[in-house]
Amino acid sequence: MHAKLIRSPLSLAGALVLAALAFNPWGCGRTQDADSGDRADWGLSLAERAAPRGEEAAILTRAPQVPPPLTRSHPTHVVVKLDVREQVGRLAEGVEYTFWTFGGSVPGPFIRVRQNDVVEFHLSNHPDNKMPHNIDLHAVTGPGGGATSSFTAPGKSTQFTFTALNAGLFVYHCATAPVGMHIANGMYGLILIEPPDGLPPVDREYYVMQSEFYTVGGYGESGLQSFDMGKALREEPDYVVFNGAVGALADTRALHAERGETVRLFVGNGGPNLISSFHVIGEIFDLVHGEGGSEANQRNVQTTLVPAGGAAIVEFKVDVPGTFLLVDHSIFRAFNKGALAMLTVGGEEDATIYSGQQAEGIYLPEGGAVQAIAGPRAAPARALSLAERVAAGGRIYEQNCAACHQLTGQGIPGAFPPLAGSDYLLADKKRGIQAILHGLQGELVVNGRTYTGVMPALQLSDEEIASVLSYVLNSWGNQGGSVEPQQVREQRR
Ligand code: CU
Repeated sequence: MHAKLIRSPLSLAGALVLAALAFNPWGCGRTQDADSGDRADWGLSLAERAAPRGEEAAILTRAPQVPPPLTRSHPTHVVVKLDVREQVGRLAEGVEYTFWTFGGSVPGPFIRVRQNDVVEFHLSNHPDNKMPHNIDLHAVTGPGGGATSSFTAPGKSTQFTFTALNAGLFVYHCATAPVGMHIANGMYGLILIEPPDGLPPVDREYYVMQSEFYTVGGYGESGLQSFDMGKALREEPDYVVFNGAVGALADTRALHAERGETVRLFVGNGGPNLISSFHVIGEIFDLVHGEGGSEANQRNVQTTLVPAGGAAIVEFKVDVPGTFLLVDHSIFRAFNKGALAMLTVGGEEDATIYSGQQAEGIYLPEGGAVQAIAGPRAAPARALSLAERVAAGGRIYEQNCAACHQLTGQGIPGAFPPLAGSDYLLADKKRGIQAILHGLQGELVVNGRTYTGVMPALQLSDEEIASVLSYVLNSWGNQGGSVEPQQVREQRR
C-alpha cells in the first residue's frame, strides 16, 4: 500500500504526508497524537511533522544487541557510517575463517532508523582489504538498493542518500561480484525502519541472524578454513550458524530474560542459500511479523520461515524459567552444523504451566536393549598430541554427548549424571571407556545421587573415544590426564 502511494505522481512532500497518515502498521494502540515525542511538535501541520528536521548519527550495535527504540516523533537526517573489514575470526572451536565483514562482525551492525528518515550512508573499505565491496540495503528504494552508488575499492569511501519510505525489518548485504561469495564470507546485517509511532514496548530485544558457511574442510575440521565454491554451488554447507559462529549465542554468551518478560527477536537470514525454519524449543511465538513486514500477521506460531535475504520479527512472553534453544528446525543443521543458540530464562518455577518430570520408571519392552548409534570414522594417520586430542574430543563431545551431559558437563538432574567432578568417572578411566563402548542402563549413583537415564553405545573409533575422554578429563575443573587409543583397544577385548 505504501509503495503504491509513494510511486504515484505526487510530489515527494505529498507522498511523505500520505505515508505518515497511513494506518499504524504495527498494530500498537498508540496514535500519532498520543505519541510521547517532543512537545515542540504540537501545533505543527502533518506536512511539517513528516518533513525531516535536525541531524543525528545512527547508533550501531553488534549482534545480539539492538539499538534503543527511537523516541523521536519526527523524521530526521540520519548519518550512518559503516566500514568493511576482511579479517580472520572464529567459526567454531579450533576453526578459523577469513570473514569479510561490515563493521568487523558477522552479522554486521544493527541499524535502526524511522520511516521517512533521510539516511546519509557512508561506506568505507579498509585500506588493508584486498577486495572491492558495496552495499545493497533491502530498505532502499532505488537501483541496486544502493549497490550501484556504493562500489568502493580498498582505501576508498563512498556516500549516497536514501529516504526510508517503507517500514519493516530489512536485510542488507554486499552485492559485489561474485555476489554469492561476498555473502558467503559474512557480508550481511539488518536494518530496522521503525514506523512513525514506533514499536510497542517490550522488555528485551535481540538481534539474531542465521547464515551458512562453505568450507574446504568438513564440519569441525580444525585450522584456518577457506571458502569452497563447489559446495556453495551445490548448496551443501558445512556450517549453519546464528550470529556468525558455532556457539555465538551459547553458554556464557546466551541470550537472557527473566520470567514474565516479553522478548522480541529481530531474526534475519543472510543465506546465501538456505531458508530457515526458525523455532524456539519450548516456546510459542505470540506474534510474528512474517517476512519482516510492518504488520504482525500471525499469532501463536511454532516455527516461522525466514527466507534467504529476508527477516522476521517474533515476540513472546517467557512464562517459565529454563534454557530454551533457538534452532533452524531443519534439525540436522541445529545439532550437526551449528544452528543452535540459547535463551536462558531466570526466575521462579511455575508448576501450573510446566510441572517438570513427575514420574520416571523402567520400560523395557521385548528386545529392549541399549541402542547403538553412529558409525566409527577412520583413525588419523599419525598419533595426536594431548592438545590435539583434547581439541578433537571437544568437537566429538559437542556432537555426541552435550545434548544429555550438557556443554558445561553438568548433566541433567535425575536423568543424566554430571561429567564435571564425577566421582564415578574420575575414579577409573575404564568406566568411561566401557560406557561409551557398550552403553549404560539401570541405576547409577554419581556424587551420591541416583541416575536412571539410558546411555546408548556410541559407535566411535578407538581414537575418537580416547579423544572425547581426554577432553572430559581436561574440562570443567576435572583432574586432567589422557586416555590413549591403546587403552580403548584393550577394553574392546
Ligand atoms: Cu563485498
